Amino acid sequence: MTQQKFPPGFVWGVATSAYQIEGAANEDGRGKSIWDTFSHTPGNTFQGHTGDVACDHYHRYPQDIELIAGLGVDAYRFSIAWPRVQPAGRGAWNQKGLDFYDRLVDGLLAKGIAPHATLYHWDLPQALQDEGGWGSRDTADRFADYADVMGQRLGDRLATLSTHNEPWCTAHLGHRIGQFAPGARDPALAIQVAHHLLLSHGKALLAMRASGVKALLGIVLNQSSVTPATASAADAALAEREYALFVRWFMDPIFLKRYPTAPGVSIYPVAHENDFDVIAQPLDFLGINYYTRIWASSEEPPRPAPNLQGASDMGWENYAQGLTELLLQDHRDYKLPPVYITENGTACADLLIDGRVNDADRIEYMRSHLEAIRAAMEGGVDVRGFFYWSLLDNYEWNSGYDKRFGLIHVDYETQTRTPKDSAGWYRSFIQRNR
Ligand code: FCB
Repeated sequence: MTQQKFPPGFVWGVATSAYQIEGAANEDGRGKSIWDTFSHTPGNTFQGHTGDVACDHYHRYPQDIELIAGLGVDAYRFSIAWPRVQPAGRGAWNQKGLDFYDRLVDGLLAKGIAPHATLYHWDLPQALQDEGGWGSRDTADRFADYADVMGQRLGDRLATLSTHNEPWCTAHLGHRIGQFAPGARDPALAIQVAHHLLLSHGKALLAMRASGVKALLGIVLNQSSVTPATASAADAALAEREYALFVRWFMDPIFLKRYPTAPGVSIYPVAHENDFDVIAQPLDFLGINYYTRIWASSEEPPRPAPNLQGASDMGWENYAQGLTELLLQDHRDYKLPPVYITENGTACADLLIDGRVNDADRIEYMRSHLEAIRAAMEGGVDVRGFFYWSLLDNYEWNSGYDKRFGLIHVDYETQTRTPKDSAGWYRSFIQRNR
């Protein structure tokens, strides 16, 4: 149990994203996204799993709103599927798609739950990918148009609106490592994509501010602390490089109008003269997603991280202290706006037995990470809220339905939802911290 309570007004939430839960991939005029193409290409995902049906949230959202309300949270973070509202990523808007997000937002508000939306959680309209996707500078302008329209439509009812979720993943997992859509394996392209993502963020903020969009505007970055495995100079240099590529590559342009330098970093994007002025828009808030730390070992084979025994079902080390370290380092390096922890959570090999999921490991993960957040707040970091990833078990990208992050168990055969022990724990933790 944390010693001290969280301050009054601290926002307690849960998070999801469109492609991971909505399903209804071919309904009501939704266009194709790069994740439809990627997941339907053999060999890309666990047992060929796709998001075609997922949690069928598109149809079951009223029940899911009830479940959110049942957790006693203040807020729900979801993402808007760009191809559902603008099927080709430019031009015509899809009324049925727009209506869906209206109903979702109004349904949340009717239950007293504040909606926090993200504009891009990885599902680029395939039509834009066919024109070069995020490798093309033009996509940044298409994104700004989309952001502006959604901001004007929903902004009066949203608590926050984020441009991107985890641009590092879009750039590097999608374009260097090939593990995520669109599945490219090109280091220089990944760096150029990261630049266009940052540019699109800046352009979207400029457009939405010019239109007077009412929601608080920001971006969500995935971040990790980095630990050198030994005291060697090689490990120190590797750690510096990893931190530069993972954290500073997105923070420096936004807060310091530059890209970082680090040992061994040699690829920089093609940028136009005023790009940093566009990118470095003032933020109303910064969203940070944290799951694990980066362990920097230059040895071959690498030295294993120390806590892998209690690792999550993803094989990620449980290292709550890294969240404190990371937040304090951000606070030292940049002039941060208010921070939300927009994602934090763990995958467990959950078993549903007699209607119950005993997920003690998840509860311990949550408890320790909430304690880590409190420690950072005591160190001066202005953290305003916490969103557990995820509300529901869902489509975990290339891992398909094999990995379960939810507070609520989903039986994908019947779409039955069952709150796990962690759901009850979170509910009482929130009550005790009001
Ligand atoms: C994050 C993603 C989210 C989910 C979690 C486990 O990187 O934003 O969609 O997949 O990881």
